[in-house]
Amino acid sequence: MKFFVDTADVEEIRDLAATGLVDGITTNPSLIAKSGRDFFEVITEICGLVAGPVSAEVAATDHATMLAEGRVLAALAPNVCVKVPLTPDGLKTCKALTDDGHQVNVTLCFSAAQALLAAKAGATFISPFVGRLDDIGVDGLQLIADIVEIYDAYPNLSTEVLVASVRNAAHVVESAKLGAHVATLPPATLRAMYKHPLTDKGLEAFLADWAKTGQTILKPTSSGGANAESKRRSA
Ligand code: G3P
Repeated sequence: MKFFVDTADVEEIRDLAATGLVDGITTNPSLIAKSGRDFFEVITEICGLVAGPVSAEVAATDHATMLAEGRVLAALAPNVCVKVPLTPDGLKTCKALTDDGHQVNVTLCFSAAQALLAAKAGATFISPFVGRLDDIGVDGLQLIADIVEIYDAYPNLSTEVLVASVRNAAHVVESAKLGAHVATLPPATLRAMYKHPLTDKGLEAFLADWAKTGQTILKPTSSGGANAESKRRSA
């Protein structure tokens, strides 16, 4: 499963990219507004921080203007993935942009029928919003299951399921079990995935027992570095 991070906060992206676990970034107009930054500047900076797809969303709703905006966004960097809404004009734009060779992420997907249309429009990614369905008492993960089942029935479909509106680690784990290709995670959710109280407790006990041995793995030298023996053994 590929992990994207759902944010336009450059400092968060810089920090999480250093983990080596980040495969791409998704933004949307709300996240751009939250960043308080110039859209073109922040997308260009993000594209320099992460080599994978960086979703940048159009602002128009009519085909002609979305297409023009999409081409402007795609020109910002080779890894820009143009985001369009799941509307008739959005899918028309998706098809035109993918025919031009650009990556397109079709967003605001809330039904399997919509996801089927997006795949037919040649979307690179489809973004079903799990959390927002859960928020209204609809099983968001069932939508993921339905979309994966449909896409798997047609091996020549290249559209990847990008699970969005992720609220917690369970959304990520269950989506992975279902075979979704990508999850886009809020920074806090990605960080939460590392945590387990038994890991913390176990590490504390290991370190306490190791300290009792009085040994060190790297032998201090007179200058404070690793000694020749340690270097030889690690060579
Ligand atoms: O960026 C798309 C999606 O992940 C946003 O979801 O519900 O957290 O606004 P949400």
